[in-house]
Amino acid sequence: MKGIVLAGGSGTRLYPLTKVTSKQLLSVYDKPMVYYPISVLMLAGVRDILVISTPDSLPSLRNLLGDGSQLGLNFSYAEQDQPRGIAEALIIGADHIDGGPTALILGDNIFHGAGFPKLLRDAREQLTGCTLFGYPVSDPERYGIGETDGDGALVSIEEKPLRPRSDNAITGLYFYDSDAVEIARGLEPSARGELEITDVNKHYLKNGRARLFRLGRGFTWLDAGTHDSLLSASQYVQVIEKRQGIRVACLEEIALRMGYITADACHKIGAQMKNSEYGQYLMQIAQSLE
Ligand code: DAU
Repeated sequence: MKGIVLAGGSGTRLYPLTKVTSKQLLSVYDKPMVYYPISVLMLAGVRDILVISTPDSLPSLRNLLGDGSQLGLNFSYAEQDQPRGIAEALIIGADHIDGGPTALILGDNIFHGAGFPKLLRDAREQLTGCTLFGYPVSDPERYGIGETDGDGALVSIEEKPLRPRSDNAITGLYFYDSDAVEIARGLEPSARGELEITDVNKHYLKNGRARLFRLGRGFTWLDAGTHDSLLSASQYVQVIEKRQGIRVACLEEIALRMGYITADACHKIGAQMKNSEYGQYLMQIAQSLE
């Protein structure tokens, strides 16, 4: 399975913060926002990841992430010159996807919760058609919404409905089989001129091939698209990390635990930034897992 992180968009809701930098490079407590969605793909066992962003932001993302070899991953990069819709990521990424399944994740989505790696692995193994991940929210009119029947089967999908039929938001993590690229290519732009990911999902649903995994109430899903949600995300990560002494979305730690890099390599990366608590954490983790 190939991965795509969509990290473009104009970020205007976060102006002036995002006037000269990409939203996905802003800090969520102690690390750049884009680390969080990358950590999700890593936990799903996805190692070949395409990062899509604007021509302005792509060089900084590339400087930050490199070719991925330091994490035992492979990062490649592609431009989206205008925000023509989330579904365009599937078209831009067609060569990268190369006729196989894809995990697409939005660069401002943060997931955290016990049992997430297993849930991701199960979703990946059981993928036929498309798998969406639902999360209960108090403001469903802001999201794509999935309505399920009594058996938990998905019966409708709507984008930002005025009168939501459910509070089950469809998060910005999507698993697709090999049909997704052709479905995206066949879409018409929506009223706001975008290729809507919700239309891709509706296409799968119409053919009885869309499934929703519900993320339960013990789980956290945040999107960091406004000043308040960005601050909430930072505070959330700070509370967890300070209380537990662990780090959320520490890419080097995940790479080490997944067996992609050695403890020695992890220690060396930590030593390069030993003045930061993040660097010290890497050295400590490397020593404890040696
Ligand atoms: O966060 C989950 C929600 O994401 C879903 O529930 C919705 O169904 C889905 O449409 C999307 O809604 P948003 O209102 O959050 O979409 P937005 O246009 O803000 O884009 C989400 C992220 O994707 C944002 O960080 C910018 C990036 N993006 C967006 C578009 C339209 C791109 O990189 N390129 C694009 O063309």
